Amino acid sequence: MPATATPTADGEQPARGRSGAPEGEGPLLDVRDLRVEFRTRDGVVKAVNGVTYDVDAGETLAVLGESGSGKSVTAQAVMGILDSPPGRITGGEILFRGRDLLRTGREERRAIRGAQMAMIFQDALSSLNPVLSVGYQLGEMFQVHRGDSRRTARAKAVELMDRVRIPAAKQRVNDYPHQFSGGMRQRIMIAMALALEPDLIIADEPTTALDVTVQAQVMDLLAELQREYRMGLILITHDLGVVADVADKIAVMYAGRIVETAPVHELYKRPAHPYTQGLLDSIPRLDRKGRRLYAVRGLPPNLTRIPPGCEFHPRCPRARQVCVTDRPPLYTVAENDGTPLPGRASACHFWKDELNDAPAH
Ligand SMILES: Nc1ncnc2c1ncn2[C@@H]1O[C@H](COP(=O)(O)OP(=O)(O)OP(=O)(O)O)[C@@H](O)[C@H]1O
Ligand code: SF4
Ligand SMILES: [Mg+2]
Repeated sequence: MPATATPTADGEQPARGRSGAPEGEGPLLDVRDLRVEFRTRDGVVKAVNGVTYDVDAGETLAVLGESGSGKSVTAQAVMGILDSPPGRITGGEILFRGRDLLRTGREERRAIRGAQMAMIFQDALSSLNPVLSVGYQLGEMFQVHRGDSRRTARAKAVELMDRVRIPAAKQRVNDYPHQFSGGMRQRIMIAMALALEPDLIIADEPTTALDVTVQAQVMDLLAELQREYRMGLILITHDLGVVADVADKIAVMYAGRIVETAPVHELYKRPAHPYTQGLLDSIPRLDRKGRRLYAVRGLPPNLTRIPPGCEFHPRCPRARQVCVTDRPPLYTVAENDGTPLPGRASACHFWKDELNDAPAH
């Protein structure tokens, strides 16, 4: 039998009682039960299968999961840049400041994307225009969106380059993207995203292409600016090690859905889903030197043929018969005495066992 727990309101979403919140109330971004499919020659790829998460102003949500779990597709749907066709949003809501973006016109959506939300991609070189100087590209944002003169826009570009700590910004403003190192280019991407002071930034693997020391510097800078500007930040990453210092909370994705959400330190200390436990066990740790690095065994499912029951059951060390037949809803996670743990949810029938057994991290 599954552990006794109350599935949340609709069986999928953690309770939060904000349904129908008027514009301006509730979280900055509230994604509810989002579903995205791609129609391909090999069949329908069910890339996002009921994603629910929210981010407040000044808060950092890390979205974590293996390759192909739907992290980027969810972000693209939020930004309104989904590759469509073949992509199609088949359900759910994306509320930004209480307003449903899926029912917002194309032009308005573009205006919101320009000024209120911005995205930072992994690969700065392919996101920046190689034949225009970085100063021009940064300045253009102010000319187009703020109506600034060329001169003012250029001055603001230099100021921004200073803000993201590009040395000798004034001298380098006329340089082209290829003249900067990978880390500096990523700083320029951050500057572009910050230019119009958006309320929300989505950073999709912003440091993956960089080497480890530069990764840490860029991540620290992003975290610092996020705090200073009080922006909401969604940080997409494969790497649990990176998020501990910067995120407030984590959403773990598997096969297109959120399988666990928790405040960051609680997730590390007491995960409530076997997949999260597997990810934690795969982080190399100095005090575990010499031990075999455990990675989650097996492969993620083919998204055209997601297994019945719990999508994680073919790989799960805890799987039992019920897992093969019954898909777990996203349960609200609670203490043994029934007190709900704020912000915590798990899509595992046996979340209680997992929570109580979890070794300290
Ligand atoms: N344009 C597309 N056409 C068809 N399938 C797509 C398309 N874009 C994404 N997908 C599929 O959607 C699924 C989710 O992809 P997504 O890019 O969101 O994964 P991800 O979690 O961001 O992975 P990674 O960590 O590798 O970036 C994958 O199976 C992917 O193949
Ligand atoms: S529901 Fe079953 S298969 Fe799925 S994560 Fe929990 S124990 Fe594992
Ligand atoms: Mg991705």
